[in-house]
Formats: sequence, C-alpha cells, structure tokens
Amino acid sequence: MLVNTKEMLIKAQKEGYAVPAFNIHNLETIQVIVETANQLRSPVILAATPGTFSYAGRDYIQAIAEVAAKRYDTPIALHLDHHETLEEIKASLELGTKSVMIDASHHPFEENIKRVKEVADLAHTYGATVEAELGRLGGQEDDLVVDEADSFYTDPASAREFVERTGIDSLAVAIGTAHGLYKSEPKLDFDRLAKVREVVDVPLVLHGASGIPFEDVRRCIDLGACKVNIATELKIPFSDALRKFLVENPDASDPRKYMEPAKKAMKEAVIEKITMCKSDGTY
Ligand code: 13P
Repeated sequence: MLVNTKEMLIKAQKEGYAVPAFNIHNLETIQVIVETANQLRSPVILAATPGTFSYAGRDYIQAIAEVAAKRYDTPIALHLDHHETLEEIKASLELGTKSVMIDASHHPFEENIKRVKEVADLAHTYGATVEAELGRLGGQEDDLVVDEADSFYTDPASAREFVERTGIDSLAVAIGTAHGLYKSEPKLDFDRLAKVREVVDVPLVLHGASGIPFEDVRRCIDLGACKVNIATELKIPFSDALRKFLVENPDASDPRKYMEPAKKAMKEAVIEKITMCKSDGTY
C-alpha cells in the first residue's frame, strides 16, 4: 500500500540518513526506481510535478504507483512535488495520494502561511502528510522557473513560526541549491541549515540535489536534511542512453528494446543516489 511520508522521514531523521525523492514521469521511470529501491532495501518517494500529471494523467500515475507499492515490501510514497493549487492537490487526495507539497514560497510570508495551512488542514483529514517551502529555490523544474534574482534563502528566525502556524509535516529549505544543473559550483549555506534544524523539529527537505557534490549532500544529511530531491541527474542518463541507442540503431522501432539501455543507465544513477542518501539497508 502507498504510505504517507511521516514514519519514513521520522525514522530517517532519527537514524541519520535521508529518504531519496526521485521525480518520475512514466511507467518506466517508476519501475526502475521502485525495483532498485526494493533491491537495496531503501524507502523511496516517487515525486510527480503538475507537468508529469498533465503528461501522464493523475489517475494513471496513481494506479501505477499503487501497483508498485503492492508488489514490493519496502515503503513507497507517491508525493506531489511543487503543487501550487488546492484544486490539484484535492484531486490527488481523492485518488488516494498520501503525501503532498504545497509550494506557496513565491508569496509573502503571511500569504504563504495562509495557503499552506489551508492545504495542511485538508490533507490531514485524508491521512496525508504535507511539505511546504520557506525561502525560494532558483532554477527550473518543468514549468516552474525561478530567476536567481527572485530566489532567497530560508530565514531560520521565521522557520519555527512557519511550521507551528501551518501544521506542516516537513519543511523544504533554501540554502543555495537550485533546480536543474548549476552554471558554477554551488556554495551551500550549511550554517543556515544547522540553524533551521535547531529551531524546527519536523523533517527538513533538500530540493535541487542534482549537481551537488556527494560530500555536500552528505553534510546536509548529517546536519539534518532527511529527504533529498533528485530529478535532473536521473533524466540525463536515461536520455543519453536512449539517444545513444537510437543513433547506433537507426532502425530500432520497438520501445521494449530501446527503453532497456535507458532504464539500465537510470538504474545506475538510482543506486548511486540511494547510496549517497545512506538509505540502503534501512528496511
Ligand atoms: P534537481 O532537478 O536539481 O535534482 O531538483 C529536483 C527537485 O528538487 C524536485 O523538487
């Protein structure tokens, strides 16, 4: 059964590792992630953006994730990534989704609180857990594009009030990571993360982990990040392998054949990221 993220994140927080949240897009990407996570005995979060749902359909993604969760005995959550409207979140809650992110981080503090609390109150009646963002990540994730100038870091002084007044279950922090790849080496504000950890007791979430050096992600985990979001660094090996296969086999036309090298390349990236999160062998 698909689970919410409460227990898996609290266990990770206590035991000092992070649950990887991998962005999924279709049947194949879900298959690779759940099969690999189960082999490595890792919990896993399947993260789907509004763009993924417009492409594949909320009902299809929900149904595929449910089959995955029945097939394997390690915890699997389907999670709404960067959703901005109550209507879309409600549609997934009705379908049985148990983990949601409401991203109102582009609104001023009071408006952010108001929108997040509204979602948290609703989602909790469905037994679902809620993540929200304070501060704003730069970069691009599907249709969500944030200029560097519009991004800002999480203010530790407001973080506790934000968590208390909204009733959220996990908090996404902005400490210098961005969605997508980096133009120059990212400099993370580790002190800020430590300060937020001191004042907030809910699990902390690190978005934009693609392109962050392994040791920096590990340091964030040691400082208290217990959900790590990864999209770009799975999409790239999948697409590169697919492209290579089609270039080398210009007559290939069977998706069951040309998807295989792509899935294999993505699997290697999933293994690497699960190892980075230290979530292998935890279930
Ligand atoms: P990356 O594409 O940078 O890995 O970001 C993923 C993410 O944070 C999803 O919310």
